[in-house]
Amino acid sequence: MKWIYQHPRLYSLLDSVVSLSLADRVRRKVLEKRIVGSLLEIGVGTGKCLNYIGAEFVVGLDRSEAMLDFLKKRSTTRLVLGDAHILPFKGKSFDVALFCYCLAGLRQPLEAVRQALRASKEVIVIDYNRPKGMPVRLWRWIVCGIGSIIFGSRDVDFVALAKLGKASVQDFYLGLYRVVVLNGAPDAGN
Ligand SMILES: C[S@@+](CC[C@H](N)C(=O)[O-])C[C@H]1O[C@@H](n2cnc3c(N)ncnc32)[C@H](O)[C@@H]1O
Repeated sequence: MKWIYQHPRLYSLLDSVVSLSLADRVRRKVLEKRIVGSLLEIGVGTGKCLNYIGAEFVVGLDRSEAMLDFLKKRSTTRLVLGDAHILPFKGKSFDVALFCYCLAGLRQPLEAVRQALRASKEVIVIDYNRPKGMPVRLWRWIVCGIGSIIFGSRDVDFVALAKLGKASVQDFYLGLYRVVVLNGAPDAGN
């Protein structure tokens, strides 16, 4: 895991600075006014999403003890130290599972989403995507260069991701941010 995830305050600052606060605006646009029964945030980090989404029952899972310690002091959310690739929950334990800027940093993102689809009725993915018109090489340089050095990010394969369930896709800021909501099984023909 990247060193930045051992430093919650620094992560929080860089997340805002590197994205010019756009990352947080997208969190707000997608999650504000959304009310769910039970929510699992995978890679909960410092809990930025929890400021927006309304849920009766929330579990935050993360592999970083430092992130969980930081959040424990500031929130009453139930926290679980765990790995996104091996979720310790029974089938359909949650209404919604959320990956917010987490998937791009995972070793096997598609496997993590399969796990989330097993553990919940709906999966929401918020992450960076190549903006329309940006050359692939330039994007790869940014993601595999800067993003990878700081956050451990790689390019998310949104095409493969959308085939894991019935998908609805929304883009923000010229496509720099993509949100995919997955429900149940894929449509026939996908
Ligand atoms: C970029 S941060 C995003 C945090 C938060 N979702 C947000 O919106 O600010 C990614 C988080 O995923 C966690 N993480 C990385 N690998 C993980 C894994 N395999 N399982 C669970 N969490 C992981 C990191 O510790 C970090 O807190």
